[in-house]
Amino acid sequence: MFTILTGSQFGDEGKGKIVDLLAEGYDIVVRFQGGDNAGHTVIVGDRTYKLHLTPSGVLFGARLLIGPGVVLNPKVLWSEIMALESEGRTLDMGVDAKTSIIMPYHIELDGLREKARKEKIGTTRRGIGYAYIDKISRDEVQMQDLVDPDRLEAKLEEVGPAREKAIEDMGGDPSVVRDPELIEEYLEIGKKMRDRVADVSYEINLALDQGKKVLAEGAQGAFLDVIHGTQKFVTSSFTTAGSACANLGVGPTKVDDVVGIVKAYITRVGEGPMPTELKDEVGERLREKGREFGTTTGRPRRCGWFDAVLARKSVYLNGYTEVALTKLDVLTGLDPVRICTGYELDGQVLDYPPESTDLFARCTPVYEDAEGWTEEITDAGSYQELPRAVKSYVDRLEELQKVKITIVSVGPGREQTVRR
Ligand code: GDP
Ligand code: IMO
Ligand code: MG
Repeated sequence: MFTILTGSQFGDEGKGKIVDLLAEGYDIVVRFQGGDNAGHTVIVGDRTYKLHLTPSGVLFGARLLIGPGVVLNPKVLWSEIMALESEGRTLDMGVDAKTSIIMPYHIELDGLREKARKEKIGTTRRGIGYAYIDKISRDEVQMQDLVDPDRLEAKLEEVGPAREKAIEDMGGDPSVVRDPELIEEYLEIGKKMRDRVADVSYEINLALDQGKKVLAEGAQGAFLDVIHGTQKFVTSSFTTAGSACANLGVGPTKVDDVVGIVKAYITRVGEGPMPTELKDEVGERLREKGREFGTTTGRPRRCGWFDAVLARKSVYLNGYTEVALTKLDVLTGLDPVRICTGYELDGQVLDYPPESTDLFARCTPVYEDAEGWTEEITDAGSYQELPRAVKSYVDRLEELQKVKITIVSVGPGREQTVRR
């Protein structure tokens, strides 16, 4: 069984929580794109795990894989492995030989470019875009280079001078490219990771043939996709479900289920348009109650009402077969709860977002109001016992998205979840 799970908005929908919840039933959990720009939170009891690279299936002991479409900062991965192993967990992890390595110069270039931009993207400055540039231009350092000092040296010989020039041209310090200390640090991690190098495509296809269950964990969200998102305010990878097949080397005929993670309102961190953004006390309240501060950068997330126009688009971009609706508890106490059902643009009402980001930025939301509720719902033991207004909000979102909402999350903890 092959399940793909992706974020349907601008990231931070609660993918980590839902992957952890589902992981119990899976043999393998695999990351297929993005890097440590992702921050996936898993909360169990009084422990909070903020995972940037480790697949969120870690607590159930699943085989954890990092696919070749990921851009990997070895220092971040290694510190996560150390932190988890120091708790007594043994991690069964494999990283594909072809996974791109984020080098210190990618991080430097990301920072320099962001600083120089007149109109900022607000990247996480983790070197994501520059690592993907090197993948596409075939100048990347791969996992198989990291674990072999001769290969790494040869690679840096080959690509180093152009990177040094690029950094120098942008006013940075080019010594970061071949800094012996940094290289030594990377090689040290490479040495420790040697026996974790894997062939992810082979492993997953074999597992599926043997009837095992594989869960592909997306990072970011549909509208941060480098093609289908709100260009240029996007990340540098393909974030929708099809990307799991392409990046993992698993044919689309193998996919059984595509789970969309949908927040009951919407957030965005970094720059870029968001039609339902609330710059008032309601937005502030969502941020406070929802603890909407970036897992990776700590930046406050911009908050707004649920956007059904984007939700519908993300359903077709991903082909969702079911949806997990998260953070419903955060809406408690608001009345009315507003839902954006269309956009107004130049006197016309649209039920789909315009392709152009400039036009998208000019769209204003058309709202319908749903009845709010005041009861705290974080302790709900079943879907049935949720207040009537909550259930009618869920029904309405389902009607607008035309996909079954099967999981409803009413709090950050694993047990604060009801099946529908
Ligand atoms: P991800 O990037 O999609 O994995 O999401 P993040 O972990 O970055 O952000 C989601 C935040 O919401 C985390 O702090 C979660 O612990 C929290 N969270 C997830 N589901 C719920 C929920 O249903 N209610 C509340 N209040 N918090 C939730
Ligand atoms: P998870 O997996 C929210 C945003 C950044 C920035 C843009 C580009 O936790 O949902 P990048 O560093 O990727 O080049 O930044 O994308 N961004 C995210 N926003 N959640 C994420 O991941 C994100 N990963 C990147 O804020 O606007
Ligand atoms: Mg996140």
